[in-house]
Amino acid sequence: MNGVIAVDGPSASGKSTVSRRVAAELGWLYVDSGSFYRGVTWKLLREGVPADDSARILQVLRGLNMALFLHEGAVEFEIDGVRPGADLRAPAVRERVSPVSAIPEVRAFVTARLRETARFGPIVMEGRDIGSVVFPDALFKFYLDASAEERAKRRHGDLLARREQAEVGRVLESLQSRDRRDSTRATAPLKVAPGAQVIDSTALSVEEVVRRIVTAVRGVGGKG
Ligand code: DC
Repeated sequence: MNGVIAVDGPSASGKSTVSRRVAAELGWLYVDSGSFYRGVTWKLLREGVPADDSARILQVLRGLNMALFLHEGAVEFEIDGVRPGADLRAPAVRERVSPVSAIPEVRAFVTARLRETARFGPIVMEGRDIGSVVFPDALFKFYLDASAEERAKRRHGDLLARREQAEVGRVLESLQSRDRRDSTRATAPLKVAPGAQVIDSTALSVEEVVRRIVTAVRGVGGKG
């Protein structure tokens, strides 16, 4: 699987910014796998399905049509003909997405859609289990990390930029509990995939991280 760059790591480790820039620099497509889990969560909320009603969750999944399309250098989706857009970042989705993404049937559904994105061309996909489960044969695997304090500071800055009220201590707590859930769940937990190059970005600029990834990819494949 040479046309895939997997970028995994915990929340607010810089995966989105870095992956978008790497994709733009190489002329590859960007895929935000977390947005797929957010899309399923958004649909469940719209259908009023309670978090613990597994029978109804499976019923919604069976009838759910997630259609892929290209949009400004990224592979995106619509659900039953609707593009959720900014609703994917709504607080209600954010609160529910981690438990929803721990449901094995949800993971199987999203993993199949994520694999389909590769038919559009070479992709840079960010997530938690891209190098370990979705594309275990990817030639290029990176694991971005940063200290919890640094990640909380970055997430806090993002929230303020979106005019959301936030206090950095609360952001840190919420990040740490999400990390704990994401890395201890039974199915496809967040972990460093075999063969992944770990990049600790605590003291690195976005440009430096992008440069390391692009250099590694160009060095191996002569691509881009
Ligand atoms: O990257 P994000 O914050 O948009 O991800 C939202 C949630 O989805 C997060 O709690 C972890 C989960 N997720 C996952 O389990 N596997 C992925 N490949 C991507 C995201």
